[in-house]
Formats: sequence, C-alpha cells, structure tokens
Amino acid sequence: MTGSRVLGSGSALPARVVTNAQLAEKVDTSHDWIVERTGIHQRYIAGEGETTATLATDAARAALADAGVDASDIDLIVLATATPDNTFPATATKVQHALGCHGGIAFDVAAVCSGFLYALTTADSLLKTGSAKRALVIGAETFSRILDWEDRTTCVLFGDGAGAVVLEAADPLGAGLPGAAGIIASRLHADGAQHDLLYVDGGPSTTQTVGHLRMKGREVFRHAVVNLSGVLGEVIEDAGISASDIDWIVPHQANKRILDATAKKLGIPPEKVIVTVDQHANTSAASVPLAFDVARKDGRIKSGDLVMFEAMGGGFTWGASLVRM
Ligand code: UT7
Repeated sequence: MTGSRVLGSGSALPARVVTNAQLAEKVDTSHDWIVERTGIHQRYIAGEGETTATLATDAARAALADAGVDASDIDLIVLATATPDNTFPATATKVQHALGCHGGIAFDVAAVCSGFLYALTTADSLLKTGSAKRALVIGAETFSRILDWEDRTTCVLFGDGAGAVVLEAADPLGAGLPGAAGIIASRLHADGAQHDLLYVDGGPSTTQTVGHLRMKGREVFRHAVVNLSGVLGEVIEDAGISASDIDWIVPHQANKRILDATAKKLGIPPEKVIVTVDQHANTSAASVPLAFDVARKDGRIKSGDLVMFEAMGGGFTWGASLVRM
C-alpha cells in the first residue's frame, strides 16, 4: 500500500460543562480575562465513571459508525494520551477490549498536545508497510485530573474529551495521485531542551505520584507560533502545494491567539481555521480530532477538501499533517 485515507470520525465529551463564571467562583480569575487571553468560554470536565478510556471508546464507536466499519475489522489502535487510565497497560488495550476488537495491535502514544499528530503519522506508517489494514487513531484526555485547581495560570485553560478517526490502507491505484484521498505529507519534531516550560511534576519513576501540570505560558506561546508556522511550511513544501490551496486548518486548540497568529504568518484567512477552543478549551491530544469531527459533522469539511492538522505540546513536541478528504 502506498497510502492511507480517512474513512470517518467521531468524538465524545463529558456530560458536565464548566463555564468561566463557575471557575471564577473558585479561583481568582474572571470570564473577561479568560476570553480576552485565550478565547475560552467553557470546558467539559469528566465526572465519576468518565475516564480517558470511556471517552476514547465513545469517540471510537462514533467514528466506526461514521465510517461504516465494524469493530472486528480494526487491526490497529493508536491512542494518544498524557492522562492514561493506568500507568500500564496502555489505555488503547482497554479501548480495544471495550469495542470488542480481538487481536491486532494496540498501544498508546505520549506526545501530549501533539499526540494526535504523532498517532496519526505512526498509524499511517504502519498501514503503508502492511502491518495493519484498518486503524483507529484516537486522541483522548482527562486533563482535569492533572490540573492544580489552585493555579489560575493553568486550571482555566484545559478541558476533557476525545476524538477519533478511522484510517484505511489506501488503494495503491488511487493513493499518491493528484487529488486522491489520503494522508499526503506529515512532519514531526521534538525538542527535549524545552522540558521545563511545560511538564507534569510527578510520575511513577520519580515521585511515585501522578503530579500536576506546570507551564510557563508566555514562553510556550512564543515557541508555539514559531514552531507551528515552521512545520506547516515544511509540510506545504513536501506536498508541493501553496498555503492558499489549503481548504481548512484544524489546529490544536490551545489558545485562539495562537491560532490567529499562526494562520496570519502563513497568510491563511481566519475563516479557514476551525476553532473549538471557545467550547472545549485545550483538550490536549483530543483537541485536533475533536475539532475535525465538529467541522465534518457541521458540513464545513467535505469530501475532496485539503485539510491541514497541526499541534504543539509538552516536550516540546510538534507536528503537522496534510490530508485530502
Ligand atoms: O497545549 C500546549 C501548548 N500550550 C499553550 O500553547 C499555552 C500557551 N500560552 C498561553 O496560551 C498564554 O500564555 C496564557 C493564556 C497561558 C497566558 O496568557 P498571557 O497573555 O501570556 O498572560 P501572562 O502569563 O503574561 O499573564 C498576564 C497576567 C499576569 O499578571 P501580572 O504578572 O501581569 O500582574 C498573570 O498573573 O495575567 C495574570 N493571570 C491571570 N489573571 C486572571 C494569569 N492567569 C490568570 C487568570 N485570571 N486565570
């Protein structure tokens, strides 16, 4: 096989919505500050019984239904998360069991907010080499469980959720040809020197605790715009297109100002950028597939469209992927 194409998408959100005003009752913040600095109006927060695995399973079921694919036809599950149900085994194996898939490959990818890009690119590679035929690529998080709810500089920014896509190894006759549906080009990067700007201060091998998210927001912001516009430029060049050929950008939903600044640097008009950060806040690895699913289901992203995914997160890690629907 020479490629892989997206057959369908799905997403899932916890039942409970928490507004900025509700947060302002608990920490020293305000609706106006959060909206002005981030564009966030509300976020979904997981309740009892809702975990990364349950959200991922719901998103995966929705994606399978959308794709018209039976769970038994899935032979690869790649799940991106920084908030797994357990240290091990991989949350992907829990999802596999819940879906009733047997055999095949299932593992987690840890690349925090760019996890979905890492998972998508990994699944694409495994499909191209013939290791699997049909994949579920999932981004799922419950960041509410690693937030320090007394730290106003971080706790207002994140939310919980999951998104998933079904990928299929593409027909070798169609893939690679101009206009053929499928993943066209992807680039991934990492820079471990930036660890201290965005990390969790706990873990099994260090503190034996789960820990809390810590972020130097202003510095992350600065790196995000530079790194994202850089990797987008690389993928545009690899694919031999120009920025104006892109129909939709589906960015990681960290901050509306980052989305605007990155699109502006590339000369892409704001109406081509899918924005869900106002509704979902930053759902880390879930944010790109969640936003993608929202825009497919509301009819904006259509068959034949050229769609660019992009994300950056802790590590740092960042990446972009260009897909013809
Ligand atoms: O998903 C992974 C990637 N993550 C990101 O991309 C996040 C990137 N960073 C950001 O989105 C922004 O930097 C933030 C939204 C986190 C912060 O916005 P900012 O414009 O960079 O604000 P700042 O950190 O420079 O803080 C400005 C002021 C500070 O007060 P002083 O020192 O000027 O008096 C903060 O203490 O705002 C204060 N502040 C708040 N005020 C009300 C910080 N958090 C809050 C808050 N409510 N929640």
